[in-house]
Amino acid sequence: MDFTAVAAEAVLRAGALQKARYGQPVDVRHKGPVDLVTDVDRLCEDAILETLRARAPGHDIVTEETQLAKTGSRFCWFVDPLDGTTNFAHGYPCFCASVALAQDGVVVAGAVYEPLREELFTAERGAGSHVNGRRLKVSATAELKSALLVTGFPYDIHEKTSDRLRYFNLFIRHARAIRRDGAAALDLSFVAASRFDAFFEESLQPWDVLAGGLILEEAGGRISDFEGKPIGLQGAQVVASNGRLHDAMLGLLREDRAAPSQPRPAVV
Ligand code: IPD
Ligand code: CA
Ligand code: CA
Repeated sequence: MDFTAVAAEAVLRAGALQKARYGQPVDVRHKGPVDLVTDVDRLCEDAILETLRARAPGHDIVTEETQLAKTGSRFCWFVDPLDGTTNFAHGYPCFCASVALAQDGVVVAGAVYEPLREELFTAERGAGSHVNGRRLKVSATAELKSALLVTGFPYDIHEKTSDRLRYFNLFIRHARAIRRDGAAALDLSFVAASRFDAFFEESLQPWDVLAGGLILEEAGGRISDFEGKPIGLQGAQVVASNGRLHDAMLGLLREDRAAPSQPRPAVV
């Protein structure tokens, strides 16, 4: 079966729902102080689950808004029905749907759809990645001082502000600039499309990164944890780059780990 086509069908359905509801009032609830979920997240999840159950019956599914029982299938789908919920709820035009498939613990297919630009990012392991059928290739940027990075912050940023700004403070001193766009799956897809040169974030979930991670790798990029190890089927700490910048980024992270902790500036 063409699992990339199944992932694409699922994200296209979710994206159509997102586009139809974009700019209209949404029903917003809080999962945490700044962690939102809307009725559109749930509608998109229902549409994706319906597609996956019809096309790939018996496969396991891990999805953000609903805990589903696992059957021990060799196949497991990872679903972010609406990545960029905060953006969506505010009408900021940067959000997507993301679906990845792992077979025997390895991500083999993925799709990310951004419905406003109508960009469908797809990847199949070993067969490259594409946006709307056009082959993707990462940037050739070789030095951090010429690099445009992107990052994000976990939802515990209010409780752990200094910790969560630590890596932003580290990289901002070396990169040309850093953006914070608010949808990790799109951030990764944009590194694959050479719009960004690299991405870093901590405390991510597998549904945030697995599809975008495969899209990036298949475009010639590299993704790892902060120590350079493979991320497997986890999110957690992620550095994702065009490949050329990876060692420099890991080197800065290593130096940062080795440095004695600095006193925190007084809050004024
Ligand atoms: C979030 C976005 C954001 C990232 C957060 C994620 P959600 O996902 O990807 O960019 O910084 O860590 O949780 O909640 O919009 O699906
Ligand atoms: Ca997400
Ligand atoms: Ca989400």
